[in-house]
Amino acid sequence: MSDTLTITDNRTGETYEVPIFYGTYPEYGAAVNTKDLRAIKATDDDFGMLSYDPGFTNTASCKSSVTFIDGGAGVLRYRGYPIEVLVEKSSYLETAYLALYGELPTSGQLETWVHEITHHTFLHENLKKLMDGFRHDAHPMGMLISMVAALSTFYPESRNIGDAACRERQIYRLIAKVPTIAAFAYRHSIGLPYVYPDNDLSYAGNFLAMMNKVSELKYEPDPVIEKVLDVLFILHVDHEQNCSANAMRSVGSSHADPYVSVAAAAAALYGPLHGGANEMVLRMLREIRTVDNIPGYIKRVKAGEFRLMGFGHRVYKSYDPRARILREMAPAVFEATAQNPLIDIAVELERIALEDEYFVSRNLYPNVDFYSGIIYQALGFPVTMFPVLFAIPRTAGWLAQWSEMLQDPDQRIARPRQVYEGYDLRAYVDIADRA
Ligand code: CMC
Repeated sequence: MSDTLTITDNRTGETYEVPIFYGTYPEYGAAVNTKDLRAIKATDDDFGMLSYDPGFTNTASCKSSVTFIDGGAGVLRYRGYPIEVLVEKSSYLETAYLALYGELPTSGQLETWVHEITHHTFLHENLKKLMDGFRHDAHPMGMLISMVAALSTFYPESRNIGDAACRERQIYRLIAKVPTIAAFAYRHSIGLPYVYPDNDLSYAGNFLAMMNKVSELKYEPDPVIEKVLDVLFILHVDHEQNCSANAMRSVGSSHADPYVSVAAAAAALYGPLHGGANEMVLRMLREIRTVDNIPGYIKRVKAGEFRLMGFGHRVYKSYDPRARILREMAPAVFEATAQNPLIDIAVELERIALEDEYFVSRNLYPNVDFYSGIIYQALGFPVTMFPVLFAIPRTAGWLAQWSEMLQDPDQRIARPRQVYEGYDLRAYVDIADRA
């Protein structure tokens, strides 16, 4: 057996041999370097064969060691550790460290890491003025994206992306400040004063305090809600080369600073086909209103009127393991909070969809967003904050992908090719002669 691919070009009768290389699992990562296809030419002055892959459905844009997904088996691991184990044994910050540095921290490393994150949570006071400029009904995701981009102007040294110590400082700042920005955006939208970070609290606890504190001297987060939020954060740390990670890598590949790159990634996340889906799921469940209306709703989905939000995934062709964890966690959440009546609609919708030939034949299962929204709502978060709650923990994943990309000698500025389908050279038509 030879680890090569033989390609015959039937236009010329020429045969080419292209090397195959593998990742950790040969069955999941046999690849050819598509640059090798450029040798395939119909004529000598031909540019060479391109690969055409809109939406990158079958293109590996990088080699990566951060996250492994087996979409068929419903497996998700960060740096080799299954998410189920991390949810049980680790905190969000420990998991973020793992994603970024490749190993679980020792207790000393964790202490330093938590200290650094905790001591970078404050925002420059001028950022509050920027926040004040938004309308009261501005979507918090738009505010988050703008504010993160604005951080770039406060830390101009962040452009020094080749300096490892400088990169690390921006990583601390971003992971620390994103929850502060998120909470400020929420407080702005409801017209309450901003709450400054409380360094005595955990990452999730501090976020809850900045969101909810009113006049009490010390905000005490509900330990159950704090834990559930931490688990939600762990589940959202990274998801390999998704739309927003790809945006992070693509913008970062031009050597833009990490703030504007994270802002670009967050913008990609905002879309309803990506992290904006959790918000859309809630709106969908509200629109369905009662269990009786589900069959009629599914009929309209199957007729192609709209998609069932929170269903389907580019990579998972079985149950999304994150959705499984959230589904199992839901009863305990509702015990600590109030029962969310939308859960009955969600469970019934899932049951009907999973038995329906349309969904079965297309391998459409619930994804993480199907249950996360219902839980966020039970925890008291408004719907518009849902994509923001996704962006907070994903910041660690984006930064892990960014750091890996910058240190990968194979990587260059992201610059895809195209198959041009437009006009051949044309003579300019003067305005008076145009039809
Ligand atoms: N409802 C109904 N039909 C669907 C759905 C859905 N949610 N998702 C896919 N399909 C159908 C689609 O119409 C197509 O059918 P056909 O072969 O007859 O044309 C087939 O399934 C394949 O769909 P696709 O659009 O080629 O699949 P994709 O891999 O390009 O899209 C997706 C993946 C997640 C964008 C898509 O499943 C979707 O739009 N889902 C709803 C939005 C959503 O829940 N997004 C959250 C994703 S998970 C969180 C994250 O990581 O961002």
